[in-house]
Amino acid sequence: MTDLFSKFDALIAQREGLLSTGVMDPFSLVMEEVKSPTVAVVNGKETILLGTYNYMGMTFDDDVIAAGKKALDEFGAGTTGSRVLNGTFQGHKECEDALKEFYDMKYAMVFSTGYQANLGIISTIAGKGDYIILDIDSHASIYDGCKMGDAEIVAFRHNDVEALEKRLKRLPADAGKLVVLEGVYSMLGDVAPLKEMIRVSKEAGAMILVDEAHSMGFIGENGRGVAEEQGVLDDVDFVIGTFSKSVGTVGGFCVSNHPKFEIMRLVCRPYVFTASLPPAVVACSATSIRKLMHGGNKRAHLWENSKTLHKGLRDLGFQLGTPEAQSAIIAVIMPDLGQGAMMWQALLENGLYVNLARPPATPAGMTLLRCSLCAEHTAEQVADILDRFERAGKAVGII
Ligand SMILES: Cc1ncc(COP(=O)(O)O)c(C=O)c1O
Repeated sequence: MTDLFSKFDALIAQREGLLSTGVMDPFSLVMEEVKSPTVAVVNGKETILLGTYNYMGMTFDDDVIAAGKKALDEFGAGTTGSRVLNGTFQGHKECEDALKEFYDMKYAMVFSTGYQANLGIISTIAGKGDYIILDIDSHASIYDGCKMGDAEIVAFRHNDVEALEKRLKRLPADAGKLVVLEGVYSMLGDVAPLKEMIRVSKEAGAMILVDEAHSMGFIGENGRGVAEEQGVLDDVDFVIGTFSKSVGTVGGFCVSNHPKFEIMRLVCRPYVFTASLPPAVVACSATSIRKLMHGGNKRAHLWENSKTLHKGLRDLGFQLGTPEAQSAIIAVIMPDLGQGAMMWQALLENGLYVNLARPPATPAGMTLLRCSLCAEHTAEQVADILDRFERAGKAVGII
């Protein structure tokens, strides 16, 4: 018998090697208690959270929680059904209405996760003979959506407008083309030059999908994302997003003005062949989305936090993923996985949680400590975070 698990031997050996040096397993952390969007108890210690993507801090919003409790009481714990059978409750429609209003778009479809939204929309709209042109650093859910469908896949260099244009020019003029972009790339926290990319894509006759997972709620005057910020939202055919970041719940969505968009509900397998979100989740999500429409003050505070942390870390001598804060993600580049894991642990022991990211999730084989700020972080917490980075960085010998 061939052991089908032998393909994982290298990864198992790498993991065992790392753990044998005495570092904690960074990928099996347990939040024993969650006190607020910015504080949890981990290993018995009160810990500042700086790696949750809870950008707008909506997880503990009083109105959001009240809406969830009411829906739980009135509609029960789950739907036990697909959206196209018994799984569309009043709350799902209200959630889609909130999204249409939030984006000022005609159509909205709620999926059970953002992963499934990308999987479903990308694999369904680009079919045999069509082309998907995507940034090489695209999220796993975008790649998996490509794999699930029958279109030809063409990748271009990260955030490189010229490379995108060149790839587009090589494709047959009359072929169907879908350009897939992200507003903010979550590994380094860098923003895409959507304006230029959308211009060259339109010139080539392509349709455009933008995943605004890490910008919804925060970037743009109304929090609609990078496309709004760069004044090109009207040129985007499909916006994909998630509830698992700024909205503070779980779920995914696609909004569009395409006149035939509603047919997606019948042909998109990751929408049809899975159970819908529980009533409490859609009620929390709809309330959160509506509150995010009036989140201007929170957005301004989150920018303050992001800029302060970026400048502070740079001044301490850390190498960062972007020259300035472009989003609420600040990526700290580690020399290697071993030192990255040591630094991660030193921060945790100092009461600070960040995300450790390593290849293949990261670009160019980098090990990163990814920090994501929250609108609920106070200025004192940000100062504390910098202090803890300084102490841990010196102890590990990175600065
Ligand atoms: C760019 C991007 N798209 C999609 C997703 C998937 O979102 P969800 O957590 O809702 O599955 C993520 C989540 O990490 C993401 O970063």
